[in-house]
Amino acid sequence: MAHSDQFKALVISETADNQFVRTVEQKHIDDLPKGDVVVQVLYSSLNYKDVLSATGNRGVTRNYPHTPGIDAAGVVASSQNDDFQPGDEVIVTSYDLGMNTAGGFGQYIRVPAEWVVPLPHGLTLREAMIYGTAGFTAALSVWYMIENGVAPDAGDILVSGATGGVGSIAVSILAKSGYAVTAVNGLVDEADYLNQIGAKEVIEIETASDTSKRPMLKGLWAGSIDTVGGDILATTIKSMQSGGTVTCCGNVASPDLPLNVYPFILRGVTLIGIDSQNCPMPIRKKIWEKIASEWKIDWLEALTTEAAFDELDSKIELMLQGKHKGRTIINMSA
Ligand SMILES: NC(=O)c1ccc[n+]([C@@H]2O[C@H](COP(=O)([O-])OP(=O)(O)OC[C@H]3O[C@@H](n4cnc5c(N)ncnc54)[C@H](OP(=O)(O)O)[C@@H]3O)[C@@H](O)[C@H]2O)c1
Repeated sequence: MAHSDQFKALVISETADNQFVRTVEQKHIDDLPKGDVVVQVLYSSLNYKDVLSATGNRGVTRNYPHTPGIDAAGVVASSQNDDFQPGDEVIVTSYDLGMNTAGGFGQYIRVPAEWVVPLPHGLTLREAMIYGTAGFTAALSVWYMIENGVAPDAGDILVSGATGGVGSIAVSILAKSGYAVTAVNGLVDEADYLNQIGAKEVIEIETASDTSKRPMLKGLWAGSIDTVGGDILATTIKSMQSGGTVTCCGNVASPDLPLNVYPFILRGVTLIGIDSQNCPMPIRKKIWEKIASEWKIDWLEALTTEAAFDELDSKIELMLQGKHKGRTIINMSA
């Protein structure tokens, strides 16, 4: 590929009065950071972290102007690493992509070879981005829960933030794997959608969020995939059955966890933190293989919205308003 090639990228810039604006700009390959592998991005996807980066959250992105996009799937354009050849179909998620490294909301990225995952057999590039970081995180959470001994016959599994990206895929993978799933749905009433993707029961945030301040609650759940934190996560941990496992990956409700030690010392509850960004490559590849095979959801399209690159701005706005549902993939060449 000639290095004079131009491509489109969404750029977030900071104005003199500390506002953050989103514009589409023409970029050159030479503008990209150093790396071994240049990838033509055919699909990207929208994650909560992208919205944080797109609105100036310094915890995610330190320096602007910046191109967000923590997910990218596409074709290798050029490579200085023998493991990858031009034309190879690849997935790049996590690490520093889209945070402080120009990300998947540009039509090209350049990254270290260590960040690149060959597209597993059984998955298209488009499907890989339907999962994306959200789906990978959901799958990683389910994997850790199962590794910790929670089998389908152990009892019900609670999933919070269930209409969101992580939540929707977690509900789907669990339902496909034979688990009985109760979904917490708060901001919009989406019970029909949640039943369609496999939830057995749907409960409201108020039901999942105890305000009595009791140290322990009735043991309801064998496992839980939490994506929201705060009171809902604290209530969930207090409501676990003996030996239950909870995974924790997000903080859309709150980063706080108002809790005591009793669920851990009286019921042996396990709380597992999920960090998809730094997931070691051998586990990462294993999870992508599962996503492409036994955990491949038959109803992927039911949770997918496809947007063209030019619609990205309005989709970011929707997620900002908490109105986003399921997974939004971005067709970078449309
Ligand atoms: N640790 C990791 O590796 C990792 C990786 C990916 C994502 N995450 C985190 O996981 C979380 C979810 O990500 P996502 O991509 O699924 O986001 P998302 O698509 O925006 O979904 C979040 C969902 O949470 C629920 N929600 C929103 N505001 C809430 C509130 N104030 N109280 C209770 N529930 C609320 C909504 O679902 P309902 O309307 O159905 O309740 C919403 O759809 C984020 O915090 C994200 O940063 C972490």
